[in-house]
Amino acid sequence: MSQRTLVLIKPDAVRRGLVGAVLSRYESKGLTIVALEHRQIDAAQADAHYAEHVDQPWYPPLREFAVSGPLVALVLEGDEAISVVRTLNGATDGRAAAPGTVRGDLSLSNRENLVHASDSPESSEREIALWFPNLV
Ligand code: CDP
Ligand code: MG
Repeated sequence: MSQRTLVLIKPDAVRRGLVGAVLSRYESKGLTIVALEHRQIDAAQADAHYAEHVDQPWYPPLREFAVSGPLVALVLEGDEAISVVRTLNGATDGRAAAPGTVRGDLSLSNRENLVHASDSPESSEREIALWFPNLV
């Protein structure tokens, strides 16, 4: 089933010059980029994006990271795109993520882990509406 998923290439990836390397993995997999934008977000956008996490003790440093520099937001489309992109990205903690995944190969952090991807059809719908309201 074709799906769309919201991906963020986070500020650490932009700072490290890894945008192209990360995008290349998604394109090589066969996913289609249907929206893409370089963007600097503010705290309100970070809070809206991470609504499920705002009460976590680790949220304030996550928000600081999310607004620390530009990121690249995109929407990918393809067969089972939501789970496919989560698998390509790897486990949340880069230290534990499997080799071959974006995080497993390129991140050594539980916070600065390079990428975000929607985790369910409901999240995808909410996040695409938040980031790309004109696409819905
Ligand atoms: O991004 P993912 O869905 O894999 O993980 P999450 O559990 O939904 O957490 C969202 C983001 O919060 C992670 O990708 C990390 O950047 C950050 N995080 C953090 O800063 N500290 C933690 N203890 C856990 C997650
Ligand atoms: Mg998540």
